[in-house]
Amino acid sequence: MARSLRVAPEYIEKVKSAPQLNGYPSQQSLATDTGFSLSTVKSFLSGKPVDYLNFVELSKKLGLEWQDIAYKEPETQPPKPQPTNGEASPFITGAPINQPRYFFGREKELKRLFNLLKRHPLQNSAIIGKKRSGKTSLLHYLKNISTTPAEQLRPEQKSNWLPHPENYCWIFVDLQDARMQSREGLLKYILESLKVQIPTPCDLDHFMNVVSNNLHSPTVILLDEISVGLQRCPELDDRFWDCLRSLATNQTGGNLAFVLATPESPIDMAHNTGHSSPFFNIFGYTANLGALTEKEARELIASSPIAFTDEDVEWILTQSRCWPLLLQILCRERLFSLEEGENDDNWREEGLRQMKPFADLLDS
Ligand SMILES: Nc1ncnc2c1ncn2[C@@H]1O[C@H](COP(=O)(O)OP(=O)(O)OP(=O)(O)O)[C@@H](O)[C@H]1O
Ligand SMILES: [Mg+2]
Repeated sequence: MARSLRVAPEYIEKVKSAPQLNGYPSQQSLATDTGFSLSTVKSFLSGKPVDYLNFVELSKKLGLEWQDIAYKEPETQPPKPQPTNGEASPFITGAPINQPRYFFGREKELKRLFNLLKRHPLQNSAIIGKKRSGKTSLLHYLKNISTTPAEQLRPEQKSNWLPHPENYCWIFVDLQDARMQSREGLLKYILESLKVQIPTPCDLDHFMNVVSNNLHSPTVILLDEISVGLQRCPELDDRFWDCLRSLATNQTGGNLAFVLATPESPIDMAHNTGHSSPFFNIFGYTANLGALTEKEARELIASSPIAFTDEDVEWILTQSRCWPLLLQILCRERLFSLEEGENDDNWREEGLRQMKPFADLLDS
């Protein structure tokens, strides 16, 4: 979730004049009235990042719609270039993998998922997996792999999953992001990603019209953390989901598909959160994320810049049972100990300790 927000450059003038228009003779008087520090108020007014909740509160005080004036990070920007100075971290633990070269395995799932997306009509799928199993990483990979330049991939990495990747529009929606939790915020974000004009008002009816008239190339909406949307966002109600279903099934000539990531099946999730929209019945294919195959896990381990002994590799495979996060943790510990020139086995103890919070991955 975005923890801080800033005013978009095109709104700074408007925001700067808002205190006067709302009866605050000075920035200090606004600070005093809201209870924020003067520096928070100054940062807000000048387009510097401030905490998300403070941003919402200050916007409200000044009669501004926070979703309108907030700068939106362009999610659809191409992946950042790889660092080439050897300083990139080879093992990533915790944050989702968003650079394809650090993503391993999931061959079977990728084959099935791309198969549903490469032909008309595009078809919907759901990625189901336990916490920390790699759902978000897989969504990022789907979005990025086909258009990442070969020099930013590992030499043997497959990227030709789609016949015309350049025609595709991928929209990554993280429903944990506060900006996606209001109906209008989410609709605007989707329209901006599609690069179509935002109607006024940006309500469901206008949204449906604009999308059905403008969606002429394959488009995939990746919905991450959808259970948060169902549990915490009253504006994302059954009518909203019904409209999305109608768009995908009837209104867009087979050009629109959804891929969801969720810890349980979409139907169960909807049921458990009191939703009855048939949107949750359109996911004809489900990818259940388990551990990597042994071959895939060995590839991840072999990406270490310092090779591990066969004995270490076997120990890592056994302890992690090929779960990607656990592989990453153990490989990181082994690499660190090798870089430090340590000759003992203390790294194993440390690795097991670091793995503990995620031990439920190992429950079958
Ligand atoms: N395909 C992969 N290749 C390499 N590492 C991976 C892969 N998938 C997941 N990981 C590892 O697992 C960690 C968790 O991945 P990710 O955040 O995608 O999981 P998640 O299922 O979305 O978790 P959450 O339930 O918390 O949202 C990553 O930080 C990375 O270490
Ligand atoms: Mg996730």
